[in-house]
Amino acid sequence: MAIQTVGVVGCGLMGSGIAQVAAQSGHSVVVREVSAQLVEKGLQSINKNLERLVNKGTLTPGDRDAARGRVRGTTSLEDLKGCDIVIEAIIEQLPAKKELYVALDKICAANTIFASNTSSISITEMAVVTQRTQRFVGLHFFNPVPVMKLVEVIRTIATDGKVYEEVVAFAKGLGKTPVRTADNTGFIVNRLLVPYLLDAVRVLEQGLASIQDIDNSMKLGCGYPMGPLTLLDFVGIDTTYYIANIMFDEFKEARFSAPPLMKRMVLAGWNGRKSGRGFYDYADPANPLPMQFS
Ligand code: 3HC
Repeated sequence: MAIQTVGVVGCGLMGSGIAQVAAQSGHSVVVREVSAQLVEKGLQSINKNLERLVNKGTLTPGDRDAARGRVRGTTSLEDLKGCDIVIEAIIEQLPAKKELYVALDKICAANTIFASNTSSISITEMAVVTQRTQRFVGLHFFNPVPVMKLVEVIRTIATDGKVYEEVVAFAKGLGKTPVRTADNTGFIVNRLLVPYLLDAVRVLEQGLASIQDIDNSMKLGCGYPMGPLTLLDFVGIDTTYYIANIMFDEFKEARFSAPPLMKRMVLAGWNGRKSGRGFYDYADPANPLPMQFS
């Protein structure tokens, strides 16, 4: 059975991107947020991103309208009842996710596939609160979702092989390149990326190099599109701190331990681009200036 109708729970940065790419690839999408205001905000973000593509000439106004017409916003979980797959992209907190899956499990048909966009929470730990562990996978997209080609498709020891292949095919149909991985904290990308980002903070913290020189080193020396401290601001200091803590908790390896500077930044609310301040000051977003930490 090919996946046609797609439910997305959470219409923030990731959820809105997922809803957008699903609609652009011809799926009917129902996207759920907790309030009408957040539904509106999410739909506006989709509109803005589709408009960006029209302005660049990569999407026709007709295709924009068609994609937009395929997305329906709702505040009711009941509206996800008829979906072939429900992709969850809510806050990275296990209790909130468990509560959601218990509710969805009662609402959705027995053949609906559940997929979590979590970056670090165990897929198994969420799957086991439902009666459909064999129809439960991870589907980890990357920010910005419309641009980044990768999707990690995560299977647990209980995931049915046929369901897994359906989800891999679905990811391909979204125009993404799926990679296959087992349920292991951090999957592939964050297992490699997080220690690198944390090390960049350690280099700064130890006074070995400036913010700009650390970023330029990896941009110009290794061809990365963003330096590590710029990427940390982009992903969110709080988000990365949270992921690092989960990985440290799981593996107890020093390479996953968050440097003290990150903790202090999170406490101060310097969470990166979204909060106007992180390793850079975004008072003028087009011209971020490195912060002083001494
Ligand atoms: N939404 C949609 N499209 C966007 C976008 C956004 N937020 N930001 C940029 N774009 C598009 C632009 O329209 C442009 O499209 P085009 O090439 O067709 O014209 C393209 O992306 C390039 O954008 P810009 O020219 O404005 O800027 P850059 O060349 O600096 O690219 C970037 C921006 C794509 C974000 C690039 O810097 C990049 O790839 N950065 C690294 C991002 C990354 O590593 N993401 C993964 C983060 S880790 C993660 O998500 C996992 C989680 O678990 C932590």
